[in-house]
Amino acid sequence: MREGTSPLIHRLDYQQPAYWIRKVDLTFDLDPAKTLVTSKMQVERNRAVPHGPLRLHGEELNLLRVLIDGSSVSFRQEGHELVIEGAPDADFALEIRNTCCPEKNTALSGLYTSGGSFFTQCEAEGFRRITYFLDRPDVMAVYTVTLRADASRYPILLSNGNLTDSGRLDNGRHFAVWSDPFPKPSYLFAVVAGDLVAREQRVRTRAGKDHLLQVYVRRGDLEKTEHAMNSLIASMVWDEARFGLPLDLERFMVVGVSDFNMGAMENKGLNIFNTSALLASPATATDADFHRIESIVAHEYFHNWTGNRVTCRDWFQLSLKEGLTVFRDQEFSMDMAGTPSARAVCRIQDVRQLRALQFPEDSGAMAHPVRPDSYAEINNFYTTTVYEKGAEVVRMYQTLVGRKGFEAGMKLYFERHDGQAVTCDDFAAAIADANPGSPLATRLDTFKRWYSQAGTPRLTARGEHDAAARTYTLRLAQHTPATPGQGDKQPQVIPVVMGLLDRHGAALALNAAGDTETVLVLDQAEQTFVFENIDSEPVPSLLRDFSAPVVLDDGLSDAALLVLMRHDSDAFNRWEAGQRLALNRILHALRAGQPLVLSPAFIEAMRGVLNHPELDPAFKELALTLPGESYIAEQLDVVDPQAIHAAVMAAQAQLASALRDDWIAAFEAHQVQGGYTPDPASSGKRALANLALSMLVLDARSSGDAVWPGKAYQRFKDASNMTDRLGALAALVNAGAELAAPALERFHALFKDDALVIDKWFALQARAPEVDGRVFARAKALTKHPDFTLRNPNRARSLVASLCMFNPAAFHRTDAAGYVFWADQVLAMDAINPQIASRIARAMDRWSVLAEPYRSAAREAVARVAAKPDLSTDVREIVERALA
Ligand code: ARG
Ligand code: ZN
Repeated sequence: MREGTSPLIHRLDYQQPAYWIRKVDLTFDLDPAKTLVTSKMQVERNRAVPHGPLRLHGEELNLLRVLIDGSSVSFRQEGHELVIEGAPDADFALEIRNTCCPEKNTALSGLYTSGGSFFTQCEAEGFRRITYFLDRPDVMAVYTVTLRADASRYPILLSNGNLTDSGRLDNGRHFAVWSDPFPKPSYLFAVVAGDLVAREQRVRTRAGKDHLLQVYVRRGDLEKTEHAMNSLIASMVWDEARFGLPLDLERFMVVGVSDFNMGAMENKGLNIFNTSALLASPATATDADFHRIESIVAHEYFHNWTGNRVTCRDWFQLSLKEGLTVFRDQEFSMDMAGTPSARAVCRIQDVRQLRALQFPEDSGAMAHPVRPDSYAEINNFYTTTVYEKGAEVVRMYQTLVGRKGFEAGMKLYFERHDGQAVTCDDFAAAIADANPGSPLATRLDTFKRWYSQAGTPRLTARGEHDAAARTYTLRLAQHTPATPGQGDKQPQVIPVVMGLLDRHGAALALNAAGDTETVLVLDQAEQTFVFENIDSEPVPSLLRDFSAPVVLDDGLSDAALLVLMRHDSDAFNRWEAGQRLALNRILHALRAGQPLVLSPAFIEAMRGVLNHPELDPAFKELALTLPGESYIAEQLDVVDPQAIHAAVMAAQAQLASALRDDWIAAFEAHQVQGGYTPDPASSGKRALANLALSMLVLDARSSGDAVWPGKAYQRFKDASNMTDRLGALAALVNAGAELAAPALERFHALFKDDALVIDKWFALQARAPEVDGRVFARAKALTKHPDFTLRNPNRARSLVASLCMFNPAAFHRTDAAGYVFWADQVLAMDAINPQIASRIARAMDRWSVLAEPYRSAAREAVARVAAKPDLSTDVREIVERALA
């Protein structure tokens, strides 16, 4: 058992609520200092469970009155619950009046103000900070919302659903009434009120229905909403075409807000977005921003079906909607990318992200299954495991039943569960039932271990060629390491998409039918697969397109990896082979404690990629980027962040200098002419040109040449889009060039009024490769910069999270100053915004694998945070798990 003071909520303790709330009539008298909320609810006793008191959730509220069927009743307040003992057995009307204080709500959960407007964030448990309610996702009600506010300060009044009435009131106030015909859980409720403007578009869907799409932002940001609107329209078209899922509301609204805890939120008909996930113009947003906005707009839109129409019974089922919706947005992004090569680039980026963030989570103190078993604070479980590993689980369903089979499974899922709050088991059953006899349906219980077991499975593959028998025997074995609270793991279902190549790179037939690719389904600890008619020792290409979220050890030699890198028909595995070659070198040097030297064969292979006449620039950029430091750390039992950093820097320097002429040619050959568009082809060219430039500036640093830093500075000044401008700036900053300082100054002066760009300015400096402690010193000094504040989550992340979570070499210092900084920031942040504090607290998840002296110093810093008595539940759960 875990020790600690935060009580845990357990998945297996789920019980239906004692009451249902079927209808809600909410009235808001909006005022930043004191907003009055009147809630009239139709309540019904749930006869499926024993009669008990009505317990409503409520936090940070000021209760004014409670009426049942018009008369006052006795009640008591127990912690965060309002308890009414004498609720009638029959249906009744419950009326509650309370106030809350939006302007003091720095936690940004519930109703809060930002830039003088009102916004809400209710997922997961924010609604209880607005009014007393059964704030749990299985209680679904039909909402009518009346908003009343000062007409000049808050001309726009929005809530979920359709506008049914509006008009003037006395004293310069006005009102709007919104009604949402779809029953929904309280976490999907939303209100926005303020001085906003909208980009509008009317669209007609395939089904012939007309809809009004609106993107609301602050005055002045309107020209930055075009990309979001286009992404929204593309998402609508895609969901109807791919899954037959149309928009079900007349009006669909998207709103941007600068102070927001996450990317965005799928409130029914009224999605609310962090401006960083919504606003883009060529001058202020990079290609990566454009791409991210497209995928988040799509993600929230897709939630309308996978999340809203069918929602979660309880929060343990979060991946039911999140894993599925991430899978859907990934599929959408790939379809939007178009060409096979551009699709592969999307896939590689997703996998790189998974390995950099989810793999460490799965092997650290916070490791948890895709469907967690317990939590103290649900906000701590909006994790990359629930989201990204959850999406990989959904992808494996599709791999096991095929694309058509998966679509049939989705269809059955909606037929069965539209309008319901369900579980991951219900989803699994629908996909399996629609595909009887499939490798999924016949192994469903084993497959579902993906939901219950934490940890990244290790897959070992060894092949043996029998020349006399002309057979190739492939032995696959799996093992999942222990994670906190889960010692013994059972075998999981691992779909291994694979092919065999001869040593010249030609694809071999795997069976009599001549197939060159197949899916091996591993469902035991060890299994053997035999291929016939194989004349000579083949090179196996396993786990194509990353067909399962596992760590693969295929024991391949460098020679075999070179064959894959040059010839595999699977672009993902071509990329992976190159990464493995680099990783092998780096790990070898680290384990031997020797300086890293790249082999001539590796350098020539990389040169071959860089100069290849047919490969896409975007693919080249990915292939020529070395594995990340956090992914390298994952391969080691004891982690010395400084040694890893030194090895990666050495590899980079060698690649920079050995390929210097090729980088020059690549830089010159990949200049994009004409106006800016964020399409895959031109963004790929920009990415490769930026990588080349950064290599050339880096190499100039060691060779003492001044030409390339000068060129980078010129390009930085003249750039016509943010991708090129930031790329050139990053080249200077990351190489520690002398021109970095004037460039940073100029960049700040140019963009001082654009918060999202200033976030980039902070992040770039906090993420720069550490040299002699200078990056850390600079980042620490930036906390005193007039533009820095912990109150804005984007700004806090841009500096504090960038340094503590994304710059291991600057953070892990022998003098422990990074850990002291971390503890100070977490404690300061916790008093303002526990959700953000707890994200930053996760920088210490993996302290126990650190080498000394880091390990002891890190533990001390975590203990110091844990010793604070009035810590939020959010941060307390993280530091207690870290110390357990
Ligand atoms: N459902 C939102 C999304 O994935 C995220 C909400 C996260 N909320 C939270 N309290 N962590 O689009
Ligand atoms: Zn989501």
